[in-house]
Parts: sequence; structure tokens; C-alpha cells
Amino acid sequence: MTAPAEPTRPGRGQLRRPDSAALAEAAAILRAGGLVAFPTETVYGLGADATDDRAVAGIFAAKERPRFNPVIVHFHDPAAAERAVVFEGQARALAERFWPGPLSLVLPRDPGCRISLLCSAGLDSLAVRVPGHGVARALLEVAARPLAAPSANRAGALSPTTAAHVAAALGDRVPLILDGGPCPVGIESTVLDLTGEGPILLRPGGLSAEAIEAVIGPLARAQAAGGTQDLAGSGAPKSPGLQGSHYAPRLPLRLEARSARPHEALLAFGPDPPRGAAATANLSPRGDLVEAAAQLFAALHRLDRPELRAIAVMPIPETGLGLAINDRLRRAAAPRDGEGA
Ligand code: TXA
Ligand code: MG
Repeated sequence: MTAPAEPTRPGRGQLRRPDSAALAEAAAILRAGGLVAFPTETVYGLGADATDDRAVAGIFAAKERPRFNPVIVHFHDPAAAERAVVFEGQARALAERFWPGPLSLVLPRDPGCRISLLCSAGLDSLAVRVPGHGVARALLEVAARPLAAPSANRAGALSPTTAAHVAAALGDRVPLILDGGPCPVGIESTVLDLTGEGPILLRPGGLSAEAIEAVIGPLARAQAAGGTQDLAGSGAPKSPGLQGSHYAPRLPLRLEARSARPHEALLAFGPDPPRGAAATANLSPRGDLVEAAAQLFAALHRLDRPELRAIAVMPIPETGLGLAINDRLRRAAAPRDGEGA
């Protein structure tokens, strides 16, 4: 019997020792828009090509995130991380001292940033980090692109610190898990917001606040336990300094639209969008929710044109990534006055 190509390909959730063959396979999966779980010094990450909207959408689908939380983007090279965002004094001082390492910096996106808007989940900021784990670094180097990677757990569950945790949680959804043994730090990276007047500790983590304060002085703490889970458009920002960064289109949204008016833009979904809109962006003509999620933020940006009066949004199914898409659209459509619900 001739062996078909299949047995040499990784099966679903296959654990692999991170030798050069496994790293090459992992890089090929990532370049093709797939997912790979890999160890970092903090926790295991579920990685995707951060420049590929569809690949990033695949992360949300695999994790079953009920809404789009922003995702940390991992770089091999600090200089590449610096180019993706507006990187100035405090960020530079911290990067020089602590990268590679368990520190994620939230900074304004650079206008020329090529990282998927989905990584920012509609905010105008991006979290960047240069991990210190040898396997993460090797993977970033071989893949030769930045990797979007949240912790490799299902939404709401604990972060995985061994490859076996990842296999148990996501083994049926990720083709390859690089097994680098237990994560040495074991808690997530510290997330520091440098987009506002002063630095804000959004999530305490693997790098202590004291170590950061020794470099840049006192930090404000985002209140409330539970990290920054609700930051993206929750309407209840953990810190007043973050309110301004919530992205909503300038135009009002009209949800559940089945027709479009001449002064409206149309955010369409599916094969037969109504005619008559001044501008149309179809999230997925073939009705694919992963594709739709990948297009969502870019489409909203494109349709938010000052000469129009509203964005009409066609109904989107409440299944799979449709839940997160609809969550984001409802938030964007909610009344703007104050920061209420
Ligand atoms: O240690 C870690 O950070 C791991 C490894 C894999 O690098 N990753 C991780 O990612 O914990 P995740 O997605 O599970 O948590 C990232 C946190 C979330 O609370 C998210 O809301 C916040 O960082 N975050 C990411 N981008 C942000 C942004 N632009 N603004 C505010 N918060 C952001
Ligand atoms: Mg997480």
C-alpha cells in the first residue's frame, strides 16, 4: 500500500516536541492562515498570523470567545514591535529593560500598522510583546511574521501552562501543539496601558508592578479584579483614561436592516444584499461567519463616511462567531451619551 500524504501531516491537536521539523511545520500552518499552540514563558498561546484577518478570526472561533477581546501580538524583534505602534519614551525604556519578557505594552496603533484590526477589537490601540521563551522565539523567527496569541484556553477558562492543558481544552481545534514543557512563569504577562496621560496597569502579571515602577515611576491601577476582560467596548471602562479609545463608527448603526436607503451605507452579509445603499461592504457573500468576523472592523472603518447618515446592518446569525459579531455591533449601535449600558 502506498502511504497517502495524510499520516505525515499533524493530526488534530497533535503534541510535538519543538524540534526543527515541528517548527517548520508549525510555521507552514501559520503562513497558511492556521492555528498553532505554543509555549511562552508565561502561559501557552494560541497563535495565528497577526497580519491575516481570517487567521485571527480563527482564534476567536476556536476559543469560543463570546465577544471580541483585543489580542496581544507577539514579535521576535523589538524593532518590529516598535514599528507597529507609536513607541515613545516610557515604552522604549521598558522595552530596553524587560524585553524579551512577560510584559505587554498597550500603545496607539501606528497609522501604517499592518496588523489585523481584529487584534485591536475595534480599539485604536494594540498590545505588543516580545516573549522570552526559546520555543516562542524560534517559532516567531521561522514563521517570520508577528503572531496574535491569546492564552490557549477556551473563553472564561484558566490559562494553560502545559501542552496537556492545551490538548484537553482545544485539542480538537488546533492542528499542532508545540510541547515545550511547563511554562516557567506560569501566569500571564503584565499588561500596561501607555496610551493615556499616565501608565495604567491593566493586568498584573508575570512582571511585577514594582519592577515597572522602578523604571518609569508610579502606575495607576485599573480597578476591579478579572483583568481587562471587559475592556473592549464594554461600556464600563475600568479606567476613565480608557474611555476615549473605544472605537465606534461615527455614523449611527441601524441593525437588522433588510433594505438600504440612499443616504445609508450597508454592512451586508450573505449572497443577496439589498440594493440602493450609497456604499456597501459585504462581510461574507457566502455567509461564512469566520470570514465575516475577519472583515468586520475593516468594513466598519470603510463605511463610516462623513457624507452618509447611517450604517444599515443586515441580520447576522446568532451562532458561532455571529455571537461576537452581534455583540460588537450592538455595542456600536448603543446610545452614545454617557458611558451607560
Ligand atoms: O502572557 C500572556 O500575555 C499570554 C501569552 C500567550 O502571551 N497571552 C494572554 O492573552 O494572556 P489573552 O488574550 O488571554 O489576554 C490578553 C489581555 C486581555 O485581558 C485583553 O483584554 C488585554 O490583554 N488586551 C490586549 N490588547 C489590548 C488593548 N489593545 N487594550 C487593552 N487591553 C488589551
Ligand atoms: Mg486569556
